[in-house]
Amino acid sequence: MSVQAKIGPSILNADLSNLAQESQKLLDNGADYLHLDVMDGTFVPNLTFGHPMVKSLRNKIKTAFFETHMMVQNPEQWIEPMADAGVNLYTFHIEPVKPEDISKVSRLIQEAGMKVGLAIKPGTEVKDLEKYVSIADVVLVMTVEPGFGGQSFMADMMPKVEWLRENYPNLDIEVDGGVGPKTIACCAKAGANMIVSGTAVVGASDQRQVIKDMREVVKSYLK
Ligand code: DX5
Ligand code: ZN
Repeated sequence: MSVQAKIGPSILNADLSNLAQESQKLLDNGADYLHLDVMDGTFVPNLTFGHPMVKSLRNKIKTAFFETHMMVQNPEQWIEPMADAGVNLYTFHIEPVKPEDISKVSRLIQEAGMKVGLAIKPGTEVKDLEKYVSIADVVLVMTVEPGFGGQSFMADMMPKVEWLRENYPNLDIEVDGGVGPKTIACCAKAGANMIVSGTAVVGASDQRQVIKDMREVVKSYLK
């Protein structure tokens, strides 16, 4: 298997008034990428930040890999501004997009110079994205209902991850929601290799250790 173990902290529950410092600290402590949760108050019942803030962050942090997790009703709308803001991976939910438009949105993201992530909520079947996997760089299986950090991990999402890993050995499979030292083995065993972790990392007294330990667990399951 050629996929790599990567830990991408979510800064949702960090001190957003110190976003650059908090992000730099995570990177200095070994984060492989930053997972930036963008919410529009419509697709999810919460509001965070948009491309102006991502662009400001990019001005301070030049080289880190940025993923934006687009929990928005109209992902097509933010492709250009997010590309301009220096986003590397644009992950959007397939639920609000018409099935016939998912490939088009993915192509627009690639044409804008970003990688494509396809995300599914807990209530969405993994088979619903089967026909789009070939155009995706990453598939994100949500392990909580999107909208808030600090929720409990849903272990019953693991069959989706297992199915993806079985069928797509070289796919980057990401999990997000309630993932931390206690739940990482479950995700790793199922086949996830890109691990989003918010509160468990941001709130840790030793971020470096938590990031390192989780990466080691994921590596131990990658063949
Ligand atoms: C939830 C977000 C997650 C969340 C992860 O809607 O997409 O990225 O912030 O945070 P924890 O790890 O605290 O669940
Ligand atoms: Zn997220």
